[in-house]
Amino acid sequence: MEQTKLVELFNSLTLDEKIGQLVQLSGNFFESNDVIPTGPVSKVGIDENKVYQSGSILNTSGAKQLKDIQDRYLEKSDKKIPMLFMADIINGFKTVFPISLGLGCSFDPEMVKKTAQIAAKEAAVSGIHVTFSPMVDLVRDARWGRVMESNGEDVYLNCLYAKAMVEGYQGDNDPSSSIASCVKHFAAYGAPVAGREYNTVELSERTLRDQYLPSYKAAVDAGCKLVMTSFNTINGIPVTGNKEILRDLLRDEWEFNGVVISDHSAIKELIPHGVVEDSKAAAKLAIEAGCDIDMMTSTYSNNLKELVESGQLDKKFIDEACMRVLELKNDLGLFENPYRGADEEAEKKYIMCDEFRQFARETVSKTCVLLKNNSILPLNKNQKLLVVGPYANNNNLSGSWSINVDPEKVITVYDGLKKQGNHVSHTNGSPLLDEDSKLDTFGYGKTVKNDNEDAQTLLEEAMNQAQDADVIIVTLGEHPHQSGEGGARGDITLPKVQIELLKSLRTLNKPIVSLIFSGRPLALKEVDENSDAILQCWFPGTEGGDGIADIIFGKVNPSARLSMSFPYSVGQCPISYNEFSTGRPAKTSTHSKRFTSRYTDMPNDPYYCFGYGLSYSNFTYSNIQLSDNTLTLNNKITARVTVTNDSEIEGTETVQLYIRDLVGSVVRPVKELKGIQKVLLKPHESKEVSFDISEDMLRFIRRDMKFDSEDGQFVAFIGHDSSTENQQQFVLIK
Ligand code: NOJ
Repeated sequence: MEQTKLVELFNSLTLDEKIGQLVQLSGNFFESNDVIPTGPVSKVGIDENKVYQSGSILNTSGAKQLKDIQDRYLEKSDKKIPMLFMADIINGFKTVFPISLGLGCSFDPEMVKKTAQIAAKEAAVSGIHVTFSPMVDLVRDARWGRVMESNGEDVYLNCLYAKAMVEGYQGDNDPSSSIASCVKHFAAYGAPVAGREYNTVELSERTLRDQYLPSYKAAVDAGCKLVMTSFNTINGIPVTGNKEILRDLLRDEWEFNGVVISDHSAIKELIPHGVVEDSKAAAKLAIEAGCDIDMMTSTYSNNLKELVESGQLDKKFIDEACMRVLELKNDLGLFENPYRGADEEAEKKYIMCDEFRQFARETVSKTCVLLKNNSILPLNKNQKLLVVGPYANNNNLSGSWSINVDPEKVITVYDGLKKQGNHVSHTNGSPLLDEDSKLDTFGYGKTVKNDNEDAQTLLEEAMNQAQDADVIIVTLGEHPHQSGEGGARGDITLPKVQIELLKSLRTLNKPIVSLIFSGRPLALKEVDENSDAILQCWFPGTEGGDGIADIIFGKVNPSARLSMSFPYSVGQCPISYNEFSTGRPAKTSTHSKRFTSRYTDMPNDPYYCFGYGLSYSNFTYSNIQLSDNTLTLNNKITARVTVTNDSEIEGTETVQLYIRDLVGSVVRPVKELKGIQKVLLKPHESKEVSFDISEDMLRFIRRDMKFDSEDGQFVAFIGHDSSTENQQQFVLIK
């Protein structure tokens, strides 16, 4: 629609109609022909007459269903403004990819972009217009359940992924293959105090700007059309009512002119946060702060009109928010075609088509991180294998956000292994959860209990079957609902019943390969002590079993690297490689050990560090050669290493460049990732890998709060992971 027509339409709207565009309800308000379900209506507290004025729907899909809803909606709508369909499509739609934390471990933004393209295609033909993705929260605390939705702990890497995903979803705005992207949770939702969901965030402005904001900025710069507010406070003010964050920063500084949507119920939650007294004040605070859409509450719907009519709110806030929503609808072409990509025939053709499933399989083998391998893997197809444990033949492999997955289509570990191996058997071995554990599942409040399986009987059966095996593959992990939203844990070890299974099997003195399924880094010390090999499989999605089998039998040589540190124990959380220098560093301080920054009962280092991951090849590095020791504004330095594959197996090495600023006007991180390169090396092949280092890579929020670099000494590190000590010093002179 031409802009002038859009303005005409906007001018014709009543205040009620404008406010309606700012309300989002879930699909169950609209599914049945004329009857509006009363349960959720009374819970949300929205006036039934206003339901059909609301401008967007949350989490409903399917071409036929969405076309029907759109038809009914347009029939009832005076001004015929189409409905927007938004959904949580996080790590794939029907073809489910590994959870985002797993995707982060690929160190491969191009691959991640393609997962977003496939998800967009499947979602677009199913009638969806917007995804609440990417989630680009920087995370450092494995207790927080939502680390599974994030790409990890690194600023640089998260920016690459943020851009890749927005580009992947939005493409060139083709209705049949793209959807609009909503970056979340703006801002800094990944830093809740003590890793507890929905908790306060308390960060200095410097850390916020240097570390937590860049990934959202990268998504905004890549053109994402929406931003979702986070539940947390920043500087004491919940973001949903935080003008400094939503207007001064997002709109004025970053020039974002798309739609801002609240997180689920976040506007109403300004009341229990204690920054407003009632829902009227909540509506006023949020709309003035710059939050355009109210997700799943009646706060805007029931209050904005009265606020305007009583003179307490300037109508311009409603006008600007409404216009943004209309512009988004126009941009998506909904006025010309309100169904947009929804197409039943295309659904049949594309959803879970062979090509998408094959690609998803490849993503599995590029995201499973080989944490340990005492020369056990890869296995020989003729070995007798027992696959045992609660994930041996479990199709619950997609993680808690894959709400559209068809579990029947998921390839289990056993399915995958028996396709490639000649002698594979399986048994459950143990329940997933300990007898006394209780777990509320996602959203519905049902408690998951033990499946009434008798742990002792399962264990005995496993021990019997294992007698006959050459190698035991033990599948261990968390329940998928122990991570994800509301999935914070104070204990990040495996259930005791699973450790008992592992330890019992260990007494048989047979090689043990442990496969770990989790939505977070777990504390794996006991697993390490009782396994010959460990493969971190995350929740690998619909093609999990095939992708894992590809690694187990050596069809694919693992190449993934940890994008989040694995702590030694929960006591180290939060932990990340890029911590700040302290005055008493444990390794180099001249003080006696007691008076350095360390734990008395465990190491400072994580169990597995950021960037770590093994391969079936063995890579070695030469020293770093710098093209120059002095960097200026006009000349770059090139840092070179030679990487050698010192093995008989072709493999991919992810070469990592880190930089340390030795002296700054403020305390600087001990290392920061600044470059990655993947290099494929044939057996015994060597290749030179080079990185350009330029002044802009050295900028940070200085003491004067300017984002700029400072003259002085720097160290460049190039190596296999964040623990590398392969280094050369250079100086910046501006
Ligand atoms: C709440 C979650 O925090 C957010 O990530 C999600 O997009 C919304 N619910 C909608 O389901």
